[in-house]
This record gives sequence, C-alpha cells and structure tokens, in this order.
Amino acid sequence: MAARTVRKAIFPAAGLGTRFLPVTKAQPKEMLPLVDKPTIQYGVEEAIASGIEQVIMVTGGGKRAIVDHFDRSLELEHYLRKRGKDDLLRILAEVDRLSDLVDITYIQQKEPLGLGHAVWTARRLVEGEACAVLLADDVILGGSDPCLKQLIDAHHKTGATILAVRRFPRSQVARYGVVVTDGGAGPLHKVTDMVEKPKPGTEPSDLAILGRYVLTPAVMAELDRSEPGAGSEIQLTDAIKGTLGNHPVVAIEFDGDYYDTGTVPGYLRANLTLAMRREGLREELGPLLRDLLQEWLAAEAARESSNTGL
Ligand code: G1P
Repeated sequence: MAARTVRKAIFPAAGLGTRFLPVTKAQPKEMLPLVDKPTIQYGVEEAIASGIEQVIMVTGGGKRAIVDHFDRSLELEHYLRKRGKDDLLRILAEVDRLSDLVDITYIQQKEPLGLGHAVWTARRLVEGEACAVLLADDVILGGSDPCLKQLIDAHHKTGATILAVRRFPRSQVARYGVVVTDGGAGPLHKVTDMVEKPKPGTEPSDLAILGRYVLTPAVMAELDRSEPGAGSEIQLTDAIKGTLGNHPVVAIEFDGDYYDTGTVPGYLRANLTLAMRREGLREELGPLLRDLLQEWLAAEAARESSNTGL
C-alpha cells in the first residue's frame, strides 16, 4: 500500500487578481494584507502547523513580491539593527523562520488555464505521492486543529482524496464547487458526485468545497488526461470527479472559522473581523465602528421615512 504521509502542499498563486484591480495591477493579490500579514502567509503557517515539509508555489508573472516576502531582507535587517529596533527585527525573524521550517519551491504556470492546470503544473514535484492543495484566498483559522491537518488525518484514516466542505444556504453555493454525498453522519462523507459552479437553481446540495484538498496520485493522473479546450479552463473539480467510482473521495466538514478574502466585500469583512478579534486594535476600532453603525442606521431610517412619505 502506498505511504499515506502528506509532505507537500501546492499553492496555486498565478491568478491575475482582476477582482481587486487596480490594487493588483502591479502586486499579487496573495500579498494583500489581512490586518498586518499578507494573505498567503496564513496559508503557509497553516501548512507548517499541519506537518507539511515542502510548499510549492505555482506562480505566474509579476509575483516577485511573494518570493521576496519569504526571503530574508538583509538590507532591512541591517537598517533596523543599526537603529536598535529589536521589536521589528523580531517580526522579520518570525517570517524568516517560516522558510526554515518548510522548503519553498516556485514553479511557473506559463498560461492561465485554470485551477486544475495550476495544480498539474506541479505534477513532477509530487510524483506518486498524495499532496495537499491550499487556495490562499480561503483563510481558515481557529479550529481544534489546523484545517489542513484535519484533512491529512482524514486521508490517513481513509486513503481517499479529501475535500474541505462547508454547508451554506443553497442560494449561496453557485460560486463554489458543490459535492453530493452519501449523507452519512459525522464530519466525513463519501462523495458520490460533484459539480463546479452549478447554475443557480440547479445546486445539487448545500455542501460547498472550500480551498483545502488532499489529492491522491489518481487525481494527477486524471489531470494528465485533461485537455484544455481553446480559451477554456481545466477545473480541479472535474478531475476529482473523473476519479469517482475507481478511487474514494471524501468530504470533511472541518472545524474552524472561514474567511473568504477572494472578493472585495469578503476581504474587507475578514480584515474587520480579525482586527476586532485582536487586542490592541479592538479598542481603537470599536468606537469607530460604533459611530459608523450609528451613521448608517440614521441614514437607513431617513431613507425609509422618505420612501414611506413620513
Ligand atoms: C475554486 C474551485 C471551487 C472551490 C473554490 C473555493 O474556485 O474551483 O471548486 O469551491 O475555489 O474557494 P474559484 O474561487 O477559484 O473560482
């Protein structure tokens, strides 16, 4: 039986970040801050806390800032040391420590042919092994165990491809991959069907895939066979679906708080929520939020009374 250890994690990070233009014109969306850390750092920290030994970043053009972020900045360290800024040096040391705990490898996705293609780009680096995939837009914090660790544990138990899923009202799942399961009790469900971004009204269930996967080599083999149609994308969901029947796929309803940073409103909500959960920022922001809320409530009340002619 193949070893079930999951040592490598693929981070697709080649997207153009068009939802965030103009801020993503000259910087990768993965570097947008969630409070004071780039979004992608949360994913790398989760991978390390889940026992991952090698992070494989699949990048496109204009992603230099990601490489620089996980590298040392000797110039900045020198500058801070000369000025005795030990507290700031400690912050740099924490980021530097991450690349001591895990090897970070970069590989280029030369054409934006979809998430499945981005994952396939890393195939030679994970040959024959189960590997993790993390989508950095989906930030997951605060569970009993790191989210990816919960998936890896489920993989150890079942040997299956594992997908992180969460229940949403059906009206909200159309922008995700959606799974159909055998409906078993507990957090693990056998997947029987899946569909990428179902048309509104045709959602087959309320279980949406969030950006954490453990893929068995069967999925890479399926991606090997996927042909991109002209201009169209290779979907990871379709490749996983292609393995159903011959290879088990299991969905896990993971424990943890999910922050969707992939859209502007979601990103702002994540920043506000995390800032309000941080001691030192909460005290500064609380009164501002209270004032803004009062302003908004007053404006709503005024709008309502002008609508009803009162
Ligand atoms: C991707 C996947 C989708 C998944 C989602 C999670 O979609 O294709 O199956 O539900 O990530 O965030 P994207 O958000 O890249 O359109």
